Amino acid sequence: MNNSKCHLMLMASGTGSNVQALIDAVNHGQIQAEIVGVISDQPQAAVIQKAQAAGIESFISQPKDYISRKDWEQSILDFCQARSSDLILLAGFMRILSADFLQHYPQQVINIHPSLLPAFPGRQGIKDAYDYGVKITGVTIHYVDDGIDTGPIIAQESLKIDPNWDLAQLESHIHQIEHQLYPATIEKLIQEKLI
Ligand code: GRF
Repeated sequence: MNNSKCHLMLMASGTGSNVQALIDAVNHGQIQAEIVGVISDQPQAAVIQKAQAAGIESFISQPKDYISRKDWEQSILDFCQARSSDLILLAGFMRILSADFLQHYPQQVINIHPSLLPAFPGRQGIKDAYDYGVKITGVTIHYVDDGIDTGPIIAQESLKIDPNWDLAQLESHIHQIEHQLYPATIEKLIQEKLI
């Protein structure tokens, strides 16, 4: 990796606003890296259009199209390895990657989660925090292991919840933090790895 730009592979299942933030950060030179692909398990996901609009190769891989989970993961591994991926960034990728997959990329698969882990893991981190009535929530960037939103924490940013906010307002504030924190954290990691 020392003589060339870090290769980022992005994986997402949905809207892709974090993927867009990472694309923008690379295009503006805020991340010294190249995005080598976007992988999704959802053919209709808006993130696919975002990748296409940015001229980034996308790959759709659905478990149902493979005989086994192992074969599905192998298709993703092949796509990542063929593009010499250095870091795999999950951004709303709604499936668990197995320990077998992760051993190919130790400390190289990273996830963003919209709560202060270990509080409120799972699919609805923002809503769960809102419904619980916590006064402070936030965003976590962490290395991925084979659990659900577990794995060593890299960075966190907290957010004080205004009691007048509805859920949509909280979501909007969380996403604003995500779109700053993910690119900044990845750039910091890349710089540290290059030293
Ligand atoms: C984000 O809130 C992220 O933290 C979570 O899933 C959401 C994805 O949103 N893991 P988007 O597709 O990036 O807009």
